[in-house]
Amino acid sequence: MRKIWLDTDPGFDDWLTMLLLQADTALDWLGTSVVAGNAPLEATLDNALRIQQHFALTAPIYAGCERPLMGRSETAQNILGVQGMRSTGVPLPATTLVPEGTHAVHALIDAVRRHPGEITIVAIAPLTNIATALAQAPDIAPLIAEIVLMGGSTDQGNHTAAAEFNIYADPEAANRVFRSGVPLRMFGLNLCRQIRIRQTEVQRIQSIGKPRADWMAGYLDAYQRIASADGALPMPLYDPVVALYLAWPELFQFQSAHVDIELAGTYTRGMTVCEFRVPRRAPPNAEVAMSIDGPRALGLLMDRLAALLS
Ligand code: BDR
Ligand code: CA
Repeated sequence: MRKIWLDTDPGFDDWLTMLLLQADTALDWLGTSVVAGNAPLEATLDNALRIQQHFALTAPIYAGCERPLMGRSETAQNILGVQGMRSTGVPLPATTLVPEGTHAVHALIDAVRRHPGEITIVAIAPLTNIATALAQAPDIAPLIAEIVLMGGSTDQGNHTAAAEFNIYADPEAANRVFRSGVPLRMFGLNLCRQIRIRQTEVQRIQSIGKPRADWMAGYLDAYQRIASADGALPMPLYDPVVALYLAWPELFQFQSAHVDIELAGTYTRGMTVCEFRVPRRAPPNAEVAMSIDGPRALGLLMDRLAALLS
């Protein structure tokens, strides 16, 4: 079984990813580090614990970094609401759970040292926790099997014209991770825009008629309507593509690249500058996901989700 560690900032699409990871019987999910991102840490941690309680997730949850390595905190609350995820239906009930007593960065370092060469880090948030772990314990870099991350883009951004949110929210952390020498697989917006959800998917979850499906349907509906308030436009799916890759890698095509993180530009801070002319112009540091069989991937995701919620 592949050992994984999840780093996350829930976020509805993080939640969906968590359900897919839990359902994947080929994965041994060792732990979850939560970071500030979609909303401040207090909210992302509360969301993670609610999801853990109400969807019976078993991996321990650790609280991580509250702010980026440098500069001011950036959230997606302007789009996702104060809690970092919105619902058009019944909100996910409160939780009685609390996080583990260890800081997430220490827990991640310990896990990697205990399982040298075995852990794939699934990173679907700003990279602050992972960059901090690499800075505090440089010995872990060669011990991490791979980091599979949702972030960046080979073309347009989303949070800004040039930058994707997870990279924009902590470019210095992303820079450290991309320069760490750890094998990286980047799933950026160019890939996520090839798998889009419509109201058809929302209606399928609504039709299940069970409490957990009803909670999920309200959040899925609100998420789908980010693209257009009337639900007419299809909405890209972000974080779950990484879980889809772990379950069905044959659906994806990759290209080697040297990815640099723009740290300075007035208009381009947080941009992932992808040099595909490797190794001629620069040594590769990432496998960049370029294409996915979107309809097939969406079908597999929806079947797995419907089975989980039925
Ligand atoms: C990424 O940013 C967050 O809003 C999502 O959870 C995802 O990780 C998409 O740009
Ligand atoms: Ca996320």
